[in-house]
Amino acid sequence: MSLYSEKVMDHFRNPRNVGVIEDADGVGEVGNAKCGDIMKIYLKIEDDVITDVKFETFGCGSAIASSSMATELIKGKPVAEAMALTNKAVAEALDGLPAYKMHCSVLAEEAIKKALEDYYAKHPDKHMPE
Ligand code: FES
Repeated sequence: MSLYSEKVMDHFRNPRNVGVIEDADGVGEVGNAKCGDIMKIYLKIEDDVITDVKFETFGCGSAIASSSMATELIKGKPVAEAMALTNKAVAEALDGLPAYKMHCSVLAEEAIKKALEDYYAKHPDKHMPE
């Protein structure tokens, strides 16, 4: 059996939503000090819905696949759902990641949360869902 699922390989080879949103409403960048990988997420938000999302990931294949899957999971969804997205859900949607690669999916969860925090910091009239 190969180490990586077909879905991981697919999202690594054909990552969805790669790029930058110049006029993003929220941006989140996180890194993992151990491996040195960096992930940046850009969000467009309208009426509490994620209308667009893009990512730039300087990292391993699992980090790229995780960013790609995570952006697919939150695109078009309410902010509250994006806020609740866990790294476990990202890994499950990819049909699993090897145990020592789980931290790559954590970057996706953290980058999305950070981008949402940035959005709420810039929009004090809006309130973060519980
Ligand atoms: Fe660090 Fe994958 S090895 S994010």
